[in-house]
Amino acid sequence: MTKQPAYGNTAKVFHWLIVVLLVVQFAIGWLMPDIQPGAPPGSAMTYHISIGLIILMLIILRLAWRLFHPVAPADTLPRWQRLTSESVHWLLYGLVFATAMSGWFFASFRGWQVSPLFGVPLPMLAAPESAAVRLVGGWHQAAGVGLLIAIGVHVTAAFMHAFVFRDRTMQRMLPRS
Ligand code: HEM
Ligand code: HEM
Repeated sequence: MTKQPAYGNTAKVFHWLIVVLLVVQFAIGWLMPDIQPGAPPGSAMTYHISIGLIILMLIILRLAWRLFHPVAPADTLPRWQRLTSESVHWLLYGLVFATAMSGWFFASFRGWQVSPLFGVPLPMLAAPESAAVRLVGGWHQAAGVGLLIAIGVHVTAAFMHAFVFRDRTMQRMLPRS
């Protein structure tokens, strides 16, 4: 499939919507009260699960959009920067997916039948308390930290392009002026 030279509005809306939701999601994740064994999820956790599922849906849609509307890396970039930026972008997709899925496994491990979205109870991914959900659910924190590191690398690179290299890479993801 021919690669487009620039991101379209749909890709930009997906990008910035996911950024905003991730900021809110990390804030709730860190600020919500610690889970007490056997206690039902509180309202902060219900929000966390709802937003997490929306992020999961958006990242899958975003990825599907990207597969059918591929965009070429900026042609002003040296080869090593094209390769590393593409790799970091794939890593970001993978880590958002892994973080959201492992959170869902954690909630399934607890057997939380909360109704986070449109009144539909959260589907359980496996039997509560089973070894598989315990294992994958336990990766949620580590996946979140990995995602945060990848975001740090990505955002640092974006700002380096804007303020040090002073090229037009940052403009590629901003609204057209
Ligand atoms: C990409 C989306 C998500 C991000 C960035 C995220 C981030 C976080 C963070 C930072 C914490 C606090 C961890 C700590 O104590 O240090 C947390 C905890 C938690 N999250 Fe998420 N989360 C996401 C999606 C989800 C989803 C979709 C669910 C459930 C369906 C979920 C369920 C939980 C649960 C049950 C906890 C408490 C258990 C734990 O600390 O591992 N999360 N999340
Ligand atoms: C202040 C925060 C951010 C800034 C300034 C920023 C900036 C950018 C820029 C300029 C690009 C285009 C790079 C290029 O192709 O030349 C881009 C692409 C991308 N960004 Fe961000 N970004 C930010 C946060 C995030 C976050 C939190 C994520 C996490 C999911 C993310 C995921 C991506 C992905 C996956 C792409 C590649 C798009 C694609 O080809 O599908 N970004 N970003």
